[in-house]
Amino acid sequence: MNMRQRVGLKFKDEIEFLKGWKRNRKAVGAIAPTSAVTARKMASVVRPASGLPVLELGPGTGVITKAILARGVRAQDLTSIEYSPEFCDHLRTQFPGVDIRCGDAFALDLALGDRRDAQFDCVISAIPLLHLPVAKREALVIDLLERVPVGRPVVQITYGLLSPVVALPEQYEVRHLAFMMRNIPPAQLWLYRKTM
Ligand SMILES: C[S@@+](CC[C@H](N)C(=O)[O-])C[C@H]1O[C@@H](n2cnc3c(N)ncnc32)[C@H](O)[C@@H]1O
Repeated sequence: MNMRQRVGLKFKDEIEFLKGWKRNRKAVGAIAPTSAVTARKMASVVRPASGLPVLELGPGTGVITKAILARGVRAQDLTSIEYSPEFCDHLRTQFPGVDIRCGDAFALDLALGDRRDAQFDCVISAIPLLHLPVAKREALVIDLLERVPVGRPVVQITYGLLSPVVALPEQYEVRHLAFMMRNIPPAQLWLYRKTM
């Protein structure tokens, strides 16, 4: 693919994203896709050598999906759960072989279907959380941590200054991964891990 085609493809993704934002502002939660540098930082936690699949939440137009695959994860070992049917269609075209599931991250067993009992290497989440009640955010983090081995992380991107959930010492710890200036808007990346 030449430079012009690449720029065209990126622009197309941005238009798709903006259309998605106009359809459902709360669920999409940002007016532009995550930057490639932020996506790479999030994907840097993936350990392809674990041999476990990876779970992605809220792939949108796929910038983080692409970064996860670039880490060496095989397409069939990536499950991505996306709420918007339009984004799901787009993702299936862009990433053949990736296990794209159109569903709700807050009803994960249903969305995962035959993979509901799987253990994942880690979870990479771009689900907007800040407009949701704190109890719902915590329940999601706890649910996600049940699906990864002890010590492996859930990574969350957010546009607030603080983590969308505070540590619950009996259940999980919170660590700051990075502040990403090269993102619209600038973003914080957080890691959650089980404490036992
Ligand atoms: C901030 S956008 C991020 C999109 C993309 N990952 C990126 O970084 O550019 C959030 C995405 O999460 C999806 N989403 C929001 N709530 C969701 C839910 N409950 N279950 C699954 N996907 C959801 C939205 O449709 C949107 O694609």
